[in-house]
Amino acid sequence: MTLKSNPCLSELIRPEIQKMTAYHVPESTGFVKLDAMENPFPWPDEMKAQWLELLSKAEPNRYPDPSARELVFSLRDCFDISPELGVVLGNGSDELIQIILMAMNEDACVMAPTPSFVMYQHIANSLGLPFIGVPLNEDFSLNVPEMLSVIKEKNPAVIFLSYPNNPTANLFDDADLLAILKASNGLVVIDEAYQPFARKTFMDRAQDYEQLLVMRTVSKLGLAGLRLGFLVGHQRLTSQFEKIRLPYNINVFTQITAAFAFKHISTLDAQAAVICKQREVLLERLSSLKGVNVFPSDANFILFSLLSDSAERVFEALKQAGVLIKKMGNVPGLPAECLRVTVGSSSENKLFIEQIASIIK
Ligand SMILES: Cc1ncc(COP(=O)(O)O)c(C=O)c1O
Repeated sequence: MTLKSNPCLSELIRPEIQKMTAYHVPESTGFVKLDAMENPFPWPDEMKAQWLELLSKAEPNRYPDPSARELVFSLRDCFDISPELGVVLGNGSDELIQIILMAMNEDACVMAPTPSFVMYQHIANSLGLPFIGVPLNEDFSLNVPEMLSVIKEKNPAVIFLSYPNNPTANLFDDADLLAILKASNGLVVIDEAYQPFARKTFMDRAQDYEQLLVMRTVSKLGLAGLRLGFLVGHQRLTSQFEKIRLPYNINVFTQITAAFAFKHISTLDAQAAVICKQREVLLERLSSLKGVNVFPSDANFILFSLLSDSAERVFEALKQAGVLIKKMGNVPGLPAECLRVTVGSSSENKLFIEQIASIIK
């Protein structure tokens, strides 16, 4: 049968989507994977055995609990979330960004500093919401006067602040965040994806500001495969988001596994502490290489720039040597020739340093 192609089909798709490029995730099989801010450590054998025992009782033939009550209960306990605040679960925090933006009015605009997490703009674009990026200062701090002026002129419906920021790895100044929070009539989402490594949070202020939403993910803590994020805020807001969250967005296995992992949070916290120690070692070793400018990090990754070499060339040579890191490309607001490396285990970091030291000019 010959397929008849219909020239009008593509016109069904909104023009802003036709202009977008899909989010690209490189093939990583067989590489030392230092590109996606994952936790490199497996669980202790006994913990793994207990988990498998629990999973064996799962019922994949049944829909999951749509409200994931047991998971929410253990999550509230584990992260000390006030019973007065609402919690919305997402299939990763990516989905929470989508839920927040889907709930906004048609004429809403979205603001975030740039560079920051690409999904804020990607999802705003996909929903046809204008995105205003306010460049960071040269030291990667927030340009507060400029952000306040955008707030005054454009009244953004949602402001995303990644704390610490991806890809620059720094924590913004608390006073700067508070100035934005106080000035904004729209929602302010503090995205604490890297909180396990920064140990700073706005969670304890969530009750004080009605427009504040604190977003977390368990991905960086060591559960990236589960796809689980959570959003905490006043129930007046979270109850609205609940209406558009798809009923079974957190699957049976994620619900069981995350609730189990939260009961063993000390193991994950201990792994995060090892990663923080490794980060210091890696920062020191990278800084000692000639031609490398390393930026400070409060997260589980490090941004660095090359002073006399090409990021593309070094990235490819590292790949040839079996080490996958992240090529930043031409991101406005970042110095030229930037690369980002995730902090791995001590042997992974050692291999990365040995390889990059032999590659770099
Ligand atoms: C700042 C920030 N927020 C959110 C996410 C997405 O996390 P999740 O895996 O929960 O979708 C990332 C992932 O890299 C991130 O860097």
